[in-house]
Amino acid sequence: MKLLRIDASSRIESSDSRKMANQFQEQWQKNTPESSIIIRDIINNPIPHIHQKTIEGFYTSKELFNDELNNATRLSDELITELKDTDLLLISTPMYNFSIPSALKAWIDHIVRINSTFGINKESQFYGMVENVKAYIITSAGAVYNSKEMKALDFVQPYLQTVLGLIGITDITFLSLEGTTMDPEIFENTKQVVSGIINKL
Ligand SMILES: Cc1cc2nc3c(=O)[nH]c(=O)nc-3n(C[C@H](O)[C@H](O)[C@H](O)COP(=O)(O)O)c2cc1C
Repeated sequence: MKLLRIDASSRIESSDSRKMANQFQEQWQKNTPESSIIIRDIINNPIPHIHQKTIEGFYTSKELFNDELNNATRLSDELITELKDTDLLLISTPMYNFSIPSALKAWIDHIVRINSTFGINKESQFYGMVENVKAYIITSAGAVYNSKEMKALDFVQPYLQTVLGLIGITDITFLSLEGTTMDPEIFENTKQVVSGIINKL
């Protein structure tokens, strides 16, 4: 069993999403001691944004690759291999400005790649090319998103569900910490619920 863990909070020491991901990892290691883990801390080791040559590489067939395109797509290749090779994807992420941190978006822009992680069939429909990867996503947000009005402002969960679904990751469990800065009681409740789920993994 292989676990790929991606941590996206800019806070390193006091991050609630990272702390919960630590608990998840400990539980997972307890359950599957023979497992291997890759941790990508994309704040301490940021993923650069894709650029002109990366995109040229995405849309050029491999037979036509030169050194420049090989170099420009090397990181994308590496991140995609890592993702396709894993059994479980664990993402820990805060909500920043109603969406995901740009650090996580940078990772996504490398792994969502035409003819590599998703394709388009003759009927112009998308199909995913990442198989047998299950995902757990730990999110943390300062406010509480349980009402209709607030749910409409949450672009974290619907976005991650859509973009991971596109590449074939459809078995996703969201573990949401809410009210971290605005409602201590709800924060405590969500923490207990998430902890309880992790303990039963
Ligand atoms: C730059 C920044 C933007 C944020 N934007 C939002 C937001 O739009 N909505 C919200 O509910 N909380 C927002 N927060 C609060 C964080 O989501 C919250 O503190 C979360 O628990 C941080 O996760 P962490 O403890 O893992 O770093 C923001 C925090 C920061 C630092």
